Amino acid sequence: MNTQDQLKKTVGEKAASLVQDGMKVGLGSGSTVYWLVRALGERMKQEGIHIEGIPSSIQTGEWANEFGVPLTDFATTKELDVTIDGSDEVDPNFQLIKGGGAALFREKIIAQAAEKLIIIVDASKMVKQLGAYALPVEILPFAWERTAYEIEKLGCVPVLRLKDGEPLITDNGNYIVDCPFEKIEDPVDLDQKLQKIVGVIETGLFIDMADSVIVGGSEGVTMKE
Ligand code: 5RP
Repeated sequence: MNTQDQLKKTVGEKAASLVQDGMKVGLGSGSTVYWLVRALGERMKQEGIHIEGIPSSIQTGEWANEFGVPLTDFATTKELDVTIDGSDEVDPNFQLIKGGGAALFREKIIAQAAEKLIIIVDASKMVKQLGAYALPVEILPFAWERTAYEIEKLGCVPVLRLKDGEPLITDNGNYIVDCPFEKIEDPVDLDQKLQKIVGVIETGLFIDMADSVIVGGSEGVTMKE
């Protein structure tokens, strides 16, 4: 395992250790969350705690099944105690860019449903300013070129995300465009402008949502609040 993967494992396990018996937990997506779900499954077996999760992607749901973390849904549960998720960038105000794994829409739903959102990242994700990572935006396939054209007016050239040479289809049946703004001076303003574009389903900007960030770096694990 390389160093970055080791850090992802460490922060995933640290976050799992904070989950308490009886909690309902939003499970994010991505390779860091893999370690979280695995560690939650281990805690359930070893400590006999019982939790229920709502996954933010089909992949995370499969991991939950593999590691024995029982799942519930929003038909039964409207509020979550905590959501734990990875991120592609985190700025000093805990504003986030997410969606590298194309799961941003469901991730934002479980983030909003939770009393507390904990972000787990390796130190490379901590940035002074958002934007070096191209911002993922989920858009409707219908007239996607028109939607991309409107996004372009905001200062980037959106790139349709592909998989095996075809447009990547999200778990919700939509497309993703990756938007290389390079420097996002005002994430709040950009998010508001993107949300106004008809055809935009959801943006990868998570504004004022994260409560704490667990960062894994060369000096160990730090919890920032
Ligand atoms: C998926 C996400 C992920 O949380 C983000 O891409 C980080 O992934 P990883 O833990 O694999 O670095 O937003 O849509």
